[in-house]
Amino acid sequence: MKKILVIHGPNLNLLGEREPGVYGTDTFESINNEIIAHAVKYGFNCEVFQSNHEGEIIDTLHLARKKYDGVILNAGAYTHYSYAIRDAIAAIKIPVIEVHLSNIHARDEFRNKSVIAPVCKGQISGFGKYSYLMAVDALYYNWKESDVNE
Ligand code: DQA
Repeated sequence: MKKILVIHGPNLNLLGEREPGVYGTDTFESINNEIIAHAVKYGFNCEVFQSNHEGEIIDTLHLARKKYDGVILNAGAYTHYSYAIRDAIAAIKIPVIEVHLSNIHARDEFRNKSVIAPVCKGQISGFGKYSYLMAVDALYYNWKESDVNE
């Protein structure tokens, strides 16, 4: 059974009350329940972690490399400037899917740049909570494709 870890970065614990016009009104808890339910449809085991601290996100990526088969990461604002998180992703072999609820390319200029994108398997941005569900799909198809190629 594939094991996936969803990592939410800073301020995402406030989903539901944080800038609802941008991020929607679904709560952090309900979004996590939807992600887990979607992962279960593929037979994946799915766990969720959230931190407002860069170092904790890095530590969790390091731990994930031995415990999980793939990671779904919304690094929040760290996306745009954390070379340390970028290096942590580059250091591990499991696929990391970058996720954003909002379309980071259609917002403030500083959000247009993702320093983690080049070391992630791919990026899903702009579909609200469905970005996370699509990232679960992405991992499924990624693994399906690699089975075919093996
Ligand atoms: C975000 C986009 C980031 O620019 C922002 O700092 C966030 C959330 C998103 O999910 O749309 O915290 O990653």
